[in-house]
Amino acid sequence: MMATRAQQRTDRAEPGRSGDPGRDFEFTSADFARIRELIHRSAGISLSDHKRDMAYSRLARRLRARGLDSFKQYLDQLEQENDPAEWEAFTNALTTNLTAFFREAHHFPLLADFIKTRSTPLAVWCSAASTGEEPYSIAMTLIEALGDHAARNVTVLGTDIDTQVLAKAEAGMYQFDQVKHLSQERLKRFFLKGTGAHAGLVKVRPEVRAMIRFQQLNLTDRDYQLQAQQFDAIFCRNVMIYFDKPTQAQVLQRFEPLMKSGGLLFAGHSENFTYVTQSFRLRGQTVYELTRDGGGARGATRGTAQGTQGARATSGVPA
Ligand SMILES: C[S@@+](CC[C@H](N)C(=O)[O-])C[C@H]1O[C@@H](n2cnc3c(N)ncnc32)[C@H](O)[C@@H]1O
Repeated sequence: MMATRAQQRTDRAEPGRSGDPGRDFEFTSADFARIRELIHRSAGISLSDHKRDMAYSRLARRLRARGLDSFKQYLDQLEQENDPAEWEAFTNALTTNLTAFFREAHHFPLLADFIKTRSTPLAVWCSAASTGEEPYSIAMTLIEALGDHAARNVTVLGTDIDTQVLAKAEAGMYQFDQVKHLSQERLKRFFLKGTGAHAGLVKVRPEVRAMIRFQQLNLTDRDYQLQAQQFDAIFCRNVMIYFDKPTQAQVLQRFEPLMKSGGLLFAGHSENFTYVTQSFRLRGQTVYELTRDGGGARGATRGTAQGTQGARATSGVPA
């Protein structure tokens, strides 16, 4: 079989071919500028200058997979063909998915205390769920706060734009290293330990898994297709840092009608919404409280969003 030119380049991996040691493809400033523009339009992500190497290495894999010779060719095809599957791969490649169980741990006792004051049915949305550690931490906190039985009246929605991380979240399988900092009590109550071929792995227990519904959702979509006034709390942590201020304001505006009165919004440690919105007031420790009476009709519609199986792909780029 004839090797494509891209494969020949990879095979030779000759440093300096692109004018850049160790790079298989030429990667110009114009290419990077175009990638930045496209990912901003499709996912709201503002890629900073220092993400240039990351963009190269992650998207070079797409070029190889498609047997292409240049970034220009790849980006031309992406825009012209407007294939949802390739947009999905492009977006998945450029997200940053760092997360951990009980990350920013001070939020979880706050959630536990808050949820006990609320009436059922209870719902929490984890809006940048990544590989699942955060929504599982939320579900575990709710079980600890309310007991196994009461927790059955609680739903956790876990969403992310990245379909690859969502598949991992759905599987609920992790390296033991990722949970070794948890108490013995939590490990026993919430995880199954792998044996044999699964040694070194843990799996979230099915009763915790059953509390969570995962689906793809792009926070920059105009309409989330979620039912109004349903959430007691929204976790939106460590994702707004990738968005510019106008995008942050739009996202917060869309959250507002989805929340019940007095609902809480949990933000990441370096995220500050005080000057972005007046709809949420800082309560302290990067937790915000809805200032309005929740559930204005604006923007929210009844939910039909799909699960990740057969998930709607990131469909093209909004004009
Ligand atoms: C750094 S991780 C944070 C994960 C978790 N919230 C935490 O704090 O540990 C950011 C996540 O936001 C997701 N993300 C980026 N842009 C998004 C968008 N427009 N809509 C939904 N999720 C997005 C990424 O795919 C990634 O999984």
